[in-house]
Amino acid sequence: MSEDTTARATTTQTGTPVASDDHSLTVGTNGVAALHDRYLVEKLAQFNRERIPERVVHAKGGGAFGHFVVTEDVSRFTRAAFLQPGTSTEMLQRFSSVAGEQGSPDTWRDVRGFSLKFYTTEGNYDIVGNNTPVFFIRDGMKFPDFIRSQKRLPGTGLRDADMQWDFWSLSPESSHQVTYLMGDRGLPRSWREMPGFGSHTFQWINAEGERFWVKYHFKSNQGNVEMGGAEAELIAGADADFYRRDLSDAIEAGNFPSWDMHVQVMPYEEAKHYRFNPFDLTKVWSHSDYPLIKVGTYTLDRNPENFFAQIEQAAFSPANTVPGIDISPDKMLMARVFSYPDAQRYRVGANYAEVPVNAPISPVNSYAQDGATRHGFKPASEPVYAPNSRGGAVADAAAAGVGSFENDGELMRSAAALHAEDDDFGQAGTLYRDVFDAEAKARFLDTISGAVGGVVDAGIRERAIQYWTNVDAELGLSLRANLTAPVAVDAR
Ligand code: HEM
Repeated sequence: MSEDTTARATTTQTGTPVASDDHSLTVGTNGVAALHDRYLVEKLAQFNRERIPERVVHAKGGGAFGHFVVTEDVSRFTRAAFLQPGTSTEMLQRFSSVAGEQGSPDTWRDVRGFSLKFYTTEGNYDIVGNNTPVFFIRDGMKFPDFIRSQKRLPGTGLRDADMQWDFWSLSPESSHQVTYLMGDRGLPRSWREMPGFGSHTFQWINAEGERFWVKYHFKSNQGNVEMGGAEAELIAGADADFYRRDLSDAIEAGNFPSWDMHVQVMPYEEAKHYRFNPFDLTKVWSHSDYPLIKVGTYTLDRNPENFFAQIEQAAFSPANTVPGIDISPDKMLMARVFSYPDAQRYRVGANYAEVPVNAPISPVNSYAQDGATRHGFKPASEPVYAPNSRGGAVADAAAAGVGSFENDGELMRSAAALHAEDDDFGQAGTLYRDVFDAEAKARFLDTISGAVGGVVDAGIRERAIQYWTNVDAELGLSLRANLTAPVAVDAR
């Protein structure tokens, strides 16, 4: 039955009809406003509380709902229910930029976030990745410093090339990711036309308890399309929400974007001797060593009905795993499993998991209770502690299907032991030399010349040139030549 909206009276939040949405309660037509106008007070007070803190990183984004279908059989690698052949799972995806704030233009050069939430029958599974397969750093200890160097100066509130290149050139492990960022990957034409990566190495566990290391790759069925720097700058001025609008319009028009999920799988024992440390987030695994194996396809076909409730309050976390999938001994990943739920307790609230977009479809039998704005509760007869003899939920190691890895040694603060081909610049050089074609190389030189050209401090500038020289000697020479070329003087 359709509702007659014209007959609906406005009410307060507690359901009492209100007299006016136009006029405050005043003493006479021109008189002072009355504090006991409780509807005016409620309206202003509620409005003052409409915003929550933006995400400390990845603040600007957008997303949509869809479903994931497993088209292949990967049951030999994982027992996860949602990865079994033919299974279809409802999901949510959020795309984002890393450094900019809520209102920042979508087309600023940046890495793009690629977050997936699968509402599986065994609990929510989240992959919180990017459109690049690697990251800037390899130890969570450096994350807050890295982010501050990319955000704004404390005094002026401005972004600052000196700060960015100071951090990068003092953190040589960043070179692979900065090569992606300054290359074409830094400016996708849309969220629909870019790939995604889980980036880290994760663990899959099959029904027999056998363990494997995996990396996720998501291939866009729209292709990978990028835009030039000049075009991106124009769009940034004309339409700050270019990507958000593109995704929303495409789905609205029935043009549903899709991605294929692939994995690289490394047998458990091979990690010890692989030529690169497979748990180093600044490195990729060669596709000839570990070819892509297809898993399935997901399609985004439903826009959010309410951006705040369903996208802004969405809480993705690498800590959200399901039986048959676990983390790996990647130091970044281990830091992240703490950081996300902690950020969400602060950003959304202690009971963020109860917000419908974050709630699992599987039953929640947690002993957690109370906290601000808790609304779900168990019958009073249920015990609130474990262990108990009152028939409450019981933890079950067999049901949990968690992974494991050997870990032995003294407690220490140290870089990871190097594998045979580990270094900071090698894979960045390979990306530049072997993956970029001649035009991409030219665009890349142009971009880094502009970016390093913005550095004022001579010492930082020299270190930045050395950084690119370490990636590729010829690239370093060309950069130096560009930066020292006499500035063209307009003779008119
Ligand atoms: C130790 C390193 C890292 C830390 C401490 C960290 C921390 C955070 C925090 C606190 C948030 C905001 C979460 C929220 O408020 O909901 C966030 C968002 C995000 N991070 Fe990280 N991050 C790290 C590394 C990474 C890496 C390596 C990736 C990708 C491979 C990544 C991808 C993302 C994405 C995509 C989001 C946005 C999630 C969303 O769409 O809501 N982060 N990160």
